[in-house]
Amino acid sequence: MKIKAAANGPLLIETNEAKFIKDGKEEILSQKVIALCRCGQSLNKPFCDGAHKKCDFTGEVVELELK
Ligand code: FES
Repeated sequence: MKIKAAANGPLLIETNEAKFIKDGKEEILSQKVIALCRCGQSLNKPFCDGAHKKCDFTGEVVELELK
């Protein structure tokens, strides 16, 4: 699994499959890249909805690879 903080954007998590649990409900996420909000402005938290582009969010690029 790889996690990347995109330039001025979300945390991008590369994975094959993930289980998302919220309010006791489970959902399998099958997309290869999951974007998590780190600007705090998304209306679809914890996921990024592109709102970071409108709020002048700035953040460094950081990459983490889990082995
Ligand atoms: S990082 Fe994209 S909406 Fe917050």
